[in-house]
Amino acid sequence: MNNQRIARIIGSGSFLPEKVLTNKELESMVETSDEWIVTRTGIKERRVASEEEHTSTMGIHAAKAAMDNCNIDPLEIDLIIVATCTPDYLFPSTGALIQREIGATNAAAFDLQAACSGYIYALSIAKSYIESGFYKNILIVASEKISSIVDYEDRNTCVLFGDGASASVISHEGKGLEIRDVSIGTDGNQAELLILPGGGSRIPPSEQSLKDKQHFLKMEGREVFKHAVRLMEVAARQCLESFNLKGSDLAWLVPHQANIRIISAIAKRFGLKDENVHKTVHKYGNTSASGVAIALDELVQDKKVAKGENVLLVAFGAGLTWGASLLTQN
Ligand code: UT7
Repeated sequence: MNNQRIARIIGSGSFLPEKVLTNKELESMVETSDEWIVTRTGIKERRVASEEEHTSTMGIHAAKAAMDNCNIDPLEIDLIIVATCTPDYLFPSTGALIQREIGATNAAAFDLQAACSGYIYALSIAKSYIESGFYKNILIVASEKISSIVDYEDRNTCVLFGDGASASVISHEGKGLEIRDVSIGTDGNQAELLILPGGGSRIPPSEQSLKDKQHFLKMEGREVFKHAVRLMEVAARQCLESFNLKGSDLAWLVPHQANIRIISAIAKRFGLKDENVHKTVHKYGNTSASGVAIALDELVQDKKVAKGENVLLVAFGAGLTWGASLLTQN
């Protein structure tokens, strides 16, 4: 008998704030146009959290939906990993806040900071813990209130980002998406290409830092774009090649939802047709760590992944970080 533990995503759920910010509205805020945003990014609208909605509260909604989805009791959760670059506080962790509110009193909790690649980084940890037998049930929450660090006077960035959360329950029991492989990487040499300079210990908040807008994210978009396509391809190939698979073996590619042109470039490199690539970028924009998880959750809820089919997640973000994960429905 094979006693090897297999880590699977057995439950999934998401939460998007109700408030929609359209390209038309952005036209009245900065010098931009619906036409520029749609042709350069594919984004038509994005969701923005209200003042009462936070990374933790959005994450709590998603976590409850994911636990309901697989009928797991919060007391059965051993670990909560929150992938976010917009935590409620620098400390305590958003994981601790979520643990309290969902009543997962048996769970340890921590935050993981790998920017937009955070969900895939979290999958690598969950897979290792579950398959080693260290933990039985892990809750991953990817939640971002990026609107809190966006400068709505900077047209280079404010049109791109949105808020939202998604959560997954990973377990060695139950059916779902088997996590067959995860590949992650970092290039710290490019750390400043996408950065939130202020608010940490290096540039603590001060009158000057606020005046200099250091508490807003900065991005060299064109440079990031080039690295994004190259590094997501590397990560995706690593995952596929370790199982001798090709693009044509994938039922779905679920890429980071930053820009439709990046998504199309990746899909082209793997010879994938448009109908095999799941996209949410048009309606949610770039929701950082939660992007791939929200897109994957849509596929799960719509029962669009059949038994035996392969799904490849691939993401990229500040750090620079990147990651890919090969999932198979069983
Ligand atoms: O999630 C983390 C990973 N992030 C990403 O993957 C983002 C990667 N980068 C991108 O998606 C793209 O580089 C952007 C969407 C950010 C920018 O698109 P681009 O085609 O690379 O444009 P660009 O930065 O080369 O700018 C072209 C022009 C510039 O004007 P000039 O200098 O040519 O006169 C910009 O000032 O477009 C201008 N521009 C805009 N115009 C209207 C920049 N933003 C806007 C805007 N509306 N919102």
